[in-house]
Amino acid sequence: MKYLIVLSLYLFISNILLVDASYSCSDPCYGNMCCNIPSNNQYYLTTFCDESTACGPSCSSTTWFSADSQRFGCGVYLTICGSGSSSSSSSSGSSSGSGSSSSGSDSNSGSSGSDSNNSGSASASSGSSSGSGSSSSGSGSSSGSGSNSGNGSGSGSGSSSGSGSGSGSGTGSSNGEDILYGTCVKVVTIDAGPNISVEEEAGMPIIDASANVCQQLFSSSSCGWSDRRGITATQSLLDDGFPMGPFNVTISQFKQIMNQGDILSQQCMATANGDCKYKKLDFK
Ligand SMILES: *[C@@H]1O[C@H](CO)[C@@H](O)[C@H](O)[C@H]1NC(C)=O
Ligand SMILES: *[C@@H]1O[C@H](CO)[C@@H](O)[C@H](O)[C@H]1NC(C)=O
Ligand SMILES: *[C@@H]1O[C@H](CO)[C@@H](O)[C@H](O)[C@H]1NC(C)=O
Ligand SMILES: *[C@@H]1O[C@H](CO)[C@@H](O)[C@H](O)[C@H]1NC(C)=O
Repeated sequence: MKYLIVLSLYLFISNILLVDASYSCSDPCYGNMCCNIPSNNQYYLTTFCDESTACGPSCSSTTWFSADSQRFGCGVYLTICGSGSSSSSSSSGSSSGSGSSSSGSDSNSGSSGSDSNNSGSASASSGSSSGSGSSSSGSGSSSGSGSNSGNGSGSGSGSSSGSGSGSGSGTGSSNGEDILYGTCVKVVTIDAGPNISVEEEAGMPIIDASANVCQQLFSSSSCGWSDRRGITATQSLLDDGFPMGPFNVTISQFKQIMNQGDILSQQCMATANGDCKYKKLDFK
């Protein structure tokens, strides 16, 4: 019993030290908020619903929304991912990837293909195949569910093996990149917040979002800062091939989303005042 008390006291104190040490906002803004976007894209998730918002839309008029417009702008799409359920381990994959167009076969045997928005979660399966098609990178082989961003065209349809096009050079079958990473949720920013004092208390930057996001990522009806629900979040595009709301991603798709977010962020920073299409500061 005494041991327990000492232990919990220790945890309490070290927690405070951790909090004090880990958070500093390099860009305080609008009086009581933080505009800094952390370079590792790590936040805690909290939930809110306000009828009156900085950007206009009320929380009850939308399902998949977030605050943090002081960081990203109003009406900006964010992809919020849990910290990744699968233990990764293996991985080690070459990354790069992102070869245009489809590549291999849907593990799920056709079913009329088409689906531009990748639905298929892939994971397991172990598709084998390995394309051998000439031309460009690709990374093809195994499972698939072509992530093809934007205009991908792709469309799997045909079950069974390779189906040339992209692919090429891949050699060995699955490199851990096609392992299921976990669930992500695409939302749109409708409000400013949270108060910087909440982030300081939590010791982390925070994405404040709809209760539905907490439900999808953590199976909980609401998330408070003291729950310390770790997420990775980044800017994204409405037409990046992933739907609004929840979807599952593989490790390579997760990397693709994060890379795309970094590019959007860099494009924004390159414009005067950091004021750009992806960071519309149309509230005061
Ligand atoms: C899709 O293609 C059209 C025309 O080919 C182009 O204007 C548009 O930028 C492309 N979109 C993406 C996301 O690549
Ligand atoms: C933000 O937090 C500070 C300190 O707790 C408080 O004084 C201020 O009223 C808060 N602002 C808003 C808008 O909640
Ligand atoms: C793909 O996503 C877009 C935008 O979220 C949506 O308008 C479209 O209906 C979706 N298409 C399919 C096939 O799900
Ligand atoms: C994601 O995968 C999990 C586990 O396989 C499944 O329970 C869940 O329904 C999937 N979510 C979506 C949005 O596809």
